Amino acid sequence: MKEKVGFSNERFAGKTAIVTGAARGIGESIADRFVSEGARVLLVDLNPDVEATARRLGQTALIKSVTDADAGARIVATAMEALGKIDILVNNAGIGGSKRLQDTDDELIDRFLQTNLASLLRITRSVLPRLTRPGGRIINISSIFGLTGYPGTTAYAVAKAGVAQFTRQLAGELGPEGILVNAIAPGVIATPMTTGRQQNALYQRLMIEGTPLERVGQPEDIAGPVAFLASEDAAFITGTVLPVDGGILAARHGKI
Ligand code: NAI
Repeated sequence: MKEKVGFSNERFAGKTAIVTGAARGIGESIADRFVSEGARVLLVDLNPDVEATARRLGQTALIKSVTDADAGARIVATAMEALGKIDILVNNAGIGGSKRLQDTDDELIDRFLQTNLASLLRITRSVLPRLTRPGGRIINISSIFGLTGYPGTTAYAVAKAGVAQFTRQLAGELGPEGILVNAIAPGVIATPMTTGRQQNALYQRLMIEGTPLERVGQPEDIAGPVAFLASEDAAFITGTVLPVDGGILAARHGKI
């Protein structure tokens, strides 16, 4: 088990969570944060590195693509076996690398819609019968590109806008059962997904220099707000899509 650092109380002692896309990047940081605060976590990823990540955290891994037809069933079965119950579902797995629509072939359109949107609906539907009620939490990872236009990312952005609407729809459907559904819309976060793009001059100018806090975010900048939304402090929050973006949606920096 990883040494616990920096938290005076274990907000998630006795709680269980599933985090998809948890081998690395934002998902790894979310899993790390839950474990640091006392939760037991199932880490899901198609990348076999998820086993090493889970081992580091003393938790359980499932190597699985969220787009597989049996992904929901496998995730639920593994979670029930390893954790015994499901309190929190974080739909984080996603792919980047979108292009302008003219440069996006059918296969790529399908890949973005399946991975970044449809899989969330299917996995959530599979998890729902087992999700703790009242008190269950669903947290989806959208994007600021799902909340505002940004040229050159069309299929990705459309899928992420779908994630935001999925969050609102589900909050309405599940509120009466005591299940809270929220989303985070990250800005530019330094992960393997964005390493290449951060070297791009236009991206650098618009997305990083244009951010009021004048820096890229770190995975931990997302993990903290996810933990907040999963915590009792967020007991009256559902259906929100929270930008965690250094302020870029609210106010592009004056230099740009
Ligand atoms: P990343 O590429 O570093 O990590 C994503 C993880 O998801 C990887 O471990 C990958 O193997 C996994 N994954 C991808 N497709 C999968 C599939 N079909 N089944 C299972 N696992 C799969 O990316 P990052 O940055 O950590 O992204 C996490 C989430 O945050 C994504 O949904 C992404 O769209 C979103 N996001 C990221 C931003 C950023 O600037 N990094 C900005 C806005 C949103």
